[in-house]
Order: sequence, then C-alpha cells, then structure tokens
Amino acid sequence: MHHVPLLTVKVLVIGPGGREHAIVRSLLADPNVSEVHAAPGNAGISKLVPTHRIDGNDPQAVAALATRLAVDLVVVGPEAPLAAGVSDAVRATGIPVFGPDKAAAQLEASKAFAKEIMAEAEVPTAMALVATNAAEAASALDTFGAPYVVKDDGLAAGKGVVVTKDRDEALAHAQTCFDAGGTVVIEEFLDGPEVSLFVLCDGHNTVALSPAQDFKRIFDNDEGPNTGGMGAYTPLEWAPEGLVQEVIDRVAQPTVNEMARRGTPFVGVLFVGLALTTRGTRVIEFNVRFGDPETQAVLARLKTPLGSLLLAAAKGELDRVDELRWSKETAVAVVVASENYPDTPRTGDRIRGLKKAEALDGVHVIHAGTALDNDGKVVSAGGRVLAVVALGSDLVEAREKAYDGVELVQLDGSQFRSDIGRKAARNEIKVSTATGALPVTKAKGLA
Ligand code: AMP
Ligand code: GLY
Repeated sequence: MHHVPLLTVKVLVIGPGGREHAIVRSLLADPNVSEVHAAPGNAGISKLVPTHRIDGNDPQAVAALATRLAVDLVVVGPEAPLAAGVSDAVRATGIPVFGPDKAAAQLEASKAFAKEIMAEAEVPTAMALVATNAAEAASALDTFGAPYVVKDDGLAAGKGVVVTKDRDEALAHAQTCFDAGGTVVIEEFLDGPEVSLFVLCDGHNTVALSPAQDFKRIFDNDEGPNTGGMGAYTPLEWAPEGLVQEVIDRVAQPTVNEMARRGTPFVGVLFVGLALTTRGTRVIEFNVRFGDPETQAVLARLKTPLGSLLLAAAKGELDRVDELRWSKETAVAVVVASENYPDTPRTGDRIRGLKKAEALDGVHVIHAGTALDNDGKVVSAGGRVLAVVALGSDLVEAREKAYDGVELVQLDGSQFRSDIGRKAARNEIKVSTATGALPVTKAKGLA
C-alpha cells in the first residue's frame, strides 16, 4: 500500500478469543496503527493493549465505547456480535467497521439463508434440504443416504453439525435441534480434503488471504466430536494451482455481488469452508468472520500491514490495495484445550510454561480461553485455552517447533491433537479432482 501516507489509525477489536489476540498482535505490528484497544479481550490481549469490560455482544455498548475512544476503525471478531447487530450500531455512528451488518451476517447465522444465496449466485455447494420435524428429517436423510450430514440451522460455534453413518444418531441430532425450537439443514456428504479460505470484502471488491487447513474433530485422525477447531497450518502446498482464483470467481465474488444486489453489502471476512471433492470444489459453509484457529496461523505469515488492509475493506477501498505480501515460511497453530472440551470444559487451572514456550525461536503463544486470577496469574477460562503458533522454513520444521512449544505448556488435564499438519507433511493428502476443469453443479433441491 505505497502511495498511502503514514496513518495514525486507532483501532478497537471486539471479542474474547484467540482470533482476536492474533488480530491485536498483527495490528500492533502495523506502523500505521497508533493505538489498539480491545473488549472484552483475554489475559493475553490485556498484556498488549488496554481492555474494556463491556458486553461485546451489545450493539449500543460497543458503539458507545468506540465513540468514547474516538477510534478510526472497529474490528468485530466473533459471529455472535455480528449476528446481534454490533456492526450496524457502530456504522450508524460514522465509524468504519470491519465486519458485516446483521443482515449480511445471516450468511453464517442461518445455514438455510446461506444456501439460498448460494443457489441464487450459482455457487457450487452440497445439495441440501431443510427439515422442521422428524418425518421431514427422515425423508431428507434417505434422499441423500449415508454418510449423513445434519446441521443445526442457527449459530452453534462449529458444534451444531453431526456427520455420521448411523441413521439413528443423525435423527437424534435433528430431534435435539427440533426440541430446542430450531430447524435443521440436511445435506449430501462431501468427500475430499477441506480448505479454509478467508476473503476480505468491502461490499464490492474481494481480496483472498492464503488458504489454510483446520482440524475440526477433538481427537487425532479426525475422531470424536466436532470442536471449534484444534489446530491449523498454512499455506497448503498440496492445494491445486488456481484454487484461490477459482473460489474468488465462482464463490466469493458472486456471493458479494448477490449481497450487494439485495441491498445488504458484505463488508468483512467471507470465510469460505471448502471441500475439494471428486466432483469439484464445493462450499461446505460460509462464516462471516475470521476462522479460529486458522487466523492464528494465517496472520503469522501476513506481511502486509493488517490495520491498513482492514481499514481499506471497511471504507470500500480494497481496489486500492496492492497485492498482499506473505512470509515464505509455513505457520502451524496447535490448540491446547481444557480437560473435557468440547463437552463441559474444566476451567480455573494455572497455566505454566508460557514464557518458556515463547522463548523458542519462531514460536509465540496466542491466548483464547485464559484469564488472570486474583494474584495476576494466568488461568484457564474456556474450552480452547491457547494456541502455540510456530513459523518454520517448511511444514515439517514448523510442526516440530509448534509441538516443542506445546510440550512446554503445563495445564492439568489439558489435551491437544498431535497430528496437526501431519498428513500434509507426509505428502499424504490427495486431491482427486482438477479444479476449474469440471462443470459447476448448481445448488438445488433446497426446500
Ligand atoms: P460446518 O459447521 O458447516 O462447517 O460443519 C463443520 C464440519 O462438518 C465441516 O468442517 C466438515 O468437516 C463437516 N461437514 C459439514 N458439512 C459437510 C458435508 N456436506 N459433507 C461432509 N462433511 C461436512
Ligand atoms: N476454525 C473454524 C471456525 O472458526 O469456524
């Protein structure tokens, strides 16, 4: 972004997690950013910047804080404040916001809405049926056959999806959602490796970040229940050439165009969750925010100053941004989670060894569910507690460093996956389709 004079941008970051810690860390490295504030933050964030104890999901509280601090940019991290209308309230004060309005956040908040937009924009995705009761669910399951994919229609922090070969388990999950007053989306199963691609959007223009891979299940070899994500690495050496351009052309830009056409322009990150299936690239889901923990790995490699980039997106000026610059290194993030996550995580335990881990070359620790106790010591305060992030000359080296760091972190009962990036490091990921070569199937069958 040469030609742009040095700015003195003051930023407020909303959210409590690892993603927000990573964002704050990168903002502080931007010479154009003069000051960063966070709300509510966590123990890691509060060591870096002033934090404010407000309810980050309360639109008026966030707008009032942004006004009082006279910030030039608000970055909204998680989906909950976006779905609650925090961006709308801040935008109404005239302060630029990186994060979609409530209406555009429906792309994540309602899977049925996302499917409707995808169908309209001819975005390739899994065929899907909406069910509102057990009979409809049973019929939808039998339409697609096993493996069954049943998704809670609303926000569920990545835990509302059940993928199973067991028809009874699929039906039971649907029933749980109906009992809670919700509906479900039932889909055809998508095979093939998954990719997370973050696309910055300013309402009209799109700029993709470097693709990453996330590890959703709690246990090694993708076993156990879904979590918010147990680790990530980037870039993806095995991804087909042209994948990013294909996703911009067939997914992100058509979606952004459709949202603008509807009068609900999308500003923020369109997080495209993809499956590279035997029949071509398919969208698994949209999220309307940076992924966690992918962001911890992706931002570790981004050399373009983050604050200027997010401000350009917030102001509708992404077309003025130069091509993004990236470190040549590979980044790996390994999440350390509490005992019993993702069920009912144990919290309140001392975390030791953080300084030792951070002293390793190319390693840093990003806090997620942490807090300071009365003595100012760092204790666990959530399911995913922290991520050890490492940069290395290749994936093998980055993994070694990240796991060296993880071994130094002490938290009673904690768990982590030992296979983050392992298949890729061993060249075991097979993509069985040439992207761009196959015709796109229009999403259909949406009831
Ligand atoms: P979602 O919340 O939609 O991202 O789903 C969480 C995880 O469930 C995804 O990352 C996939 O691993 C899996 N999943 C979701 N939809 C499908 C599908 N149609 N086929 C196969 N796996 C899926
Ligand atoms: N790691 C996936 C997500 O943030 O939803």
